[in-house]
Amino acid sequence: MKGITLLLHSFYILLLVLGVLRSSSAENDSNEDVNGKQVYIVYMGAADSTSPSLRNDHAQLLNAVLKRNDKALVRNYKYGFSGFAARLSKDEANSIIQKPGVVSVFPDPILKLHTTRSWDFLKYQTHVKIDANPNTLSNSSTSSDVVLGILDTGIWPEAASFNDEGMSAIPSHWKGTCMKSQDFNSSNCNRKLIGARFYTDPNGDDEGDNTPRDSIGHGTHVASTAVGTAVTNASYYGLAAGNAKGGSSESRLAVYRVCSNFGCRGSAILGAFDDAIADGVDVLSLSLGASPGFRPDLTTDPIAIGSFHAVERGIVVACSAGNSGPNSYTVVNDAPWILTVAASTIDRDFQSNTVLGDNKTIMGRAINFSPLSNSAEYPIIYSESAKASSSSLTEARQCHSDSLDANKVKGKIVVCDGRDDGEYSTSDKIDTVKAVGGIGLVHITDENGAIASYYGDFPATVISSKDSATILQYINSSNNPIATILPTTTVLDYKPAPLVPNFSSRGPSTLSSNILKPDIAAPGVNILAAWIGNGVDEVPKRRKPSLYNIISGTSMACPHVSGLASSIKTQNPTWSASAIKSAIMTTAIQSDNMKTPITTDSGSVATPYDFGAGEMTTSESLQPGLVYETNTIDYLNFLCYIGLDITTIKVISRTVPDNFSCPKDSSSDLISNINYPSIAVNFTGKSVVNVSRTVTNVGEEDETAYSPVVEAPSGVKITLTPNKLQFTKSSKRLSYQVIFSSTLTSLKEDLFGSITWSNGKYMVRSPFVLTK
Ligand SMILES: *[C@@H]1O[C@H](CO)[C@@H](O)[C@H](O)[C@H]1NC(C)=O
Ligand SMILES: *[C@@H]1O[C@H](CO)[C@@H](O)[C@H](O)[C@H]1NC(C)=O
Ligand SMILES: *[C@@H]1O[C@H](CO)[C@@H](O)[C@H](O)[C@H]1NC(C)=O
Ligand SMILES: *[C@@H]1O[C@H](CO)[C@@H](O)[C@H](O)[C@H]1NC(C)=O
Ligand SMILES: *[C@@H]1O[C@H](CO)[C@@H](O)[C@H](O)[C@H]1NC(C)=O
Ligand SMILES: *[C@@H]1O[C@H](CO)[C@@H](O)[C@H](O)[C@H]1NC(C)=O
Ligand SMILES: *[C@@H]1O[C@H](CO)[C@@H](O)[C@H](O)[C@H]1NC(C)=O
Ligand SMILES: *[C@@H]1O[C@H](CO)[C@@H](O)[C@H](O)[C@H]1NC(C)=O
Ligand SMILES: *[C@@H]1O[C@H](CO)[C@@H](O)[C@H](O)[C@H]1NC(C)=O
Ligand SMILES: *[C@@H]1O[C@H](CO)[C@@H](O)[C@H](O)[C@H]1NC(C)=O
Repeated sequence: MKGITLLLHSFYILLLVLGVLRSSSAENDSNEDVNGKQVYIVYMGAADSTSPSLRNDHAQLLNAVLKRNDKALVRNYKYGFSGFAARLSKDEANSIIQKPGVVSVFPDPILKLHTTRSWDFLKYQTHVKIDANPNTLSNSSTSSDVVLGILDTGIWPEAASFNDEGMSAIPSHWKGTCMKSQDFNSSNCNRKLIGARFYTDPNGDDEGDNTPRDSIGHGTHVASTAVGTAVTNASYYGLAAGNAKGGSSESRLAVYRVCSNFGCRGSAILGAFDDAIADGVDVLSLSLGASPGFRPDLTTDPIAIGSFHAVERGIVVACSAGNSGPNSYTVVNDAPWILTVAASTIDRDFQSNTVLGDNKTIMGRAINFSPLSNSAEYPIIYSESAKASSSSLTEARQCHSDSLDANKVKGKIVVCDGRDDGEYSTSDKIDTVKAVGGIGLVHITDENGAIASYYGDFPATVISSKDSATILQYINSSNNPIATILPTTTVLDYKPAPLVPNFSSRGPSTLSSNILKPDIAAPGVNILAAWIGNGVDEVPKRRKPSLYNIISGTSMACPHVSGLASSIKTQNPTWSASAIKSAIMTTAIQSDNMKTPITTDSGSVATPYDFGAGEMTTSESLQPGLVYETNTIDYLNFLCYIGLDITTIKVISRTVPDNFSCPKDSSSDLISNINYPSIAVNFTGKSVVNVSRTVTNVGEEDETAYSPVVEAPSGVKITLTPNKLQFTKSSKRLSYQVIFSSTLTSLKEDLFGSITWSNGKYMVRSPFVLTK
């Protein structure tokens, strides 16, 4: 077990190993026990499929497995869908896949939390925080019957964000439970935190994991972002001070602890989906997923499977898009029934500036509690000039470990150049500089982008390569260069914001070029939210551990959207999951606080591959005017179009109508026609493509007419038929066709545009992409 434990310290190494194992069909799997067995998930489709014989299959198969070894069963899935996780040999797994009613059998994968991929983050696990809305507190005495379920690292129930003051009784539809453990009991749940479950790890021997209590912080942060009650005076050691409040502070919270230090097990994730469906959650939020190199298909991806069954029962499922940007095809959790969330920045920045002896100030981004004086009185040196005799100039310039000469560095602020250095993080360089007696670090790197990382008391700051010339020239031109690094201040109204940070995973979807992903962007950079009370993070001198934290990732973006979905559900209890998703997408905005188009970290105008429909809005989405409802038939058609056969589809879904069949000419191009709020068309080898959509009027007026505004890329003509949507009391649902015709012989690149229907009051916008 030692080898495994070591690997477990890094999600990345572990995932890499798993990826390799999977592609070599799980041979020589380090997860295998002494008997050559490992945990497999056996997925058997809907729990209440129209065919009762299928459910006998479940019982029979389980009995057969247990007859051979009564300790083999790890988990049984029976509420939301059917199947089990069990310790099996490869031969047993291969034999089970042949059995009737079995959709797929796959090794239990380990997914990861979607906090930033920054090694700084992994090292300190510490940039999380709920978004502190600086606006006024709403009346916390209102409560909603909407229950948001979160699959994550658990919860710190004592956090002020989960107090239930003024909340009404637990909704009567709630069937969940508050599981007991050594450090958690029913009195930790209340009218806010109404459910808490954990999933014992089949291979784990850490008793500390058998509890709903969060020992990492991620789950607490995410939960308070989504539904935390209003708390006054929240801050991270005085930074980002204000009132902290979740997106839907009136909603209830149910937590499902599926992740531990090593990641999140697929078998536990499926267990949580199964329970959450039975418990009666209305919205689910998952800030975790596979890494892009390890892409299970739809029938072997625990999140795709679990969310399909949740959505089929009307539950909204929001998932983070991943932190593997900015390369294309990095978005995960991209099944069409999932609301896939990219990250964006907010108009708040954390700056730790460097003041030089000539009084020039260089903006730096970092969170530190620098004890240095505010006047530039400390010697500063370029690391290259402090090269240890044993190292190369490059190593010294980049401040690799043991590359600096203590005699030259002692008592000085060191400028390290991290350009072209993919190897060592800012935190690594702090260690290097500290080790030789340096008193501060100015790190030149664009790697962090908009993220302000936490460096504790050490005066470390990050400057962009663009700003590096000023400091290097000053050092070069001065006989006695001096400087100081100021402690971090919170900068509000930072412009431009939002922008899409590099780390946010990008489309297109690898699942299909006929579905546009991600769906939406939401704040995910430097987010303040509740934290665990016994954090192991470095605490600045003379301070108590913070009950809040500032962290970044699409993990932080997802709960902004699931919280918004909970608010929409509260105000419109009868809306379907897809109506809520549509409302969020069609009301998104595409311009920033400078009234210019939202850009990416690197300055280019953001496309739907970066941010889907755009940045979420909180008030417009409550009243979208029209919604695109994507129903189960759309999803079943999708399964046909990507190549599943009707027999499998009938096992998977509980609601396949008798007369349903996959069209004979099933092809991926038909996916463009499922009633999705955005449009993606594979334009390869085509000059005209016809796509249909249906909208439902959910506005307060029955009699209303909508007209289109089209943003078309040059060379493409877009025709809408009809060109006007006239709704009446008796016709609330209307369909239209979009005809894309191109005068170009072939597309040189993927082209983007949008179609917006408006009645003068509401704007209902769908982005589209035509792929080359
Ligand atoms: C995997 O294990 C088999 C038998 O246990 C062995 O023959 C084979 O060489 C191993 N492969 C690798 C890549 O270690
Ligand atoms: C909050 O609710 C209480 C009790 O219903 C009411 O007295 C109070 O005025 C409300 N406050 C605000 C700010 O709406
Ligand atoms: C639950 O735990 C708290 C704190 O440890 C303790 O005070 C309380 O008595 C426990 N309640 C029950 C019902 O066990
Ligand atoms: C909020 O913090 C400020 C400054 O730390 C303090 O003066 C004030 O009393 C606090 N307010 C509340 C309600 O705790
Ligand atoms: C820098 O500013 C300080 C205080 O404003 C001033 O005393 C000093 O002369 C300035 N130094 C230079 C080099 O401009
Ligand atoms: C973002 O990524 C691009 C492309 O990889 C790179 O050129 C740029 O420097 C990065 N910017 C930031 C702020 O990380
Ligand atoms: C420093 O100055 C020297 C000579 O003036 C020049 O050759 C060198 O390129 C400069 N270095 C930097 C980093 O500006
Ligand atoms: C797009 O369509 C073309 C022609 O039908 C097909 O060859 C290609 O694989 C499709 N591209 C994708 C990404 O599905
Ligand atoms: C299947 O039956 C339903 C209800 O009877 C009907 O509305 C639907 O159009 C039928 N679908 C097909 C593909 O025949
Ligand atoms: C587009 O599809 C609609 C409905 O299937 C059909 O009426 C129309 O003629 C089609 N238009 C083109 C240009 O194919």
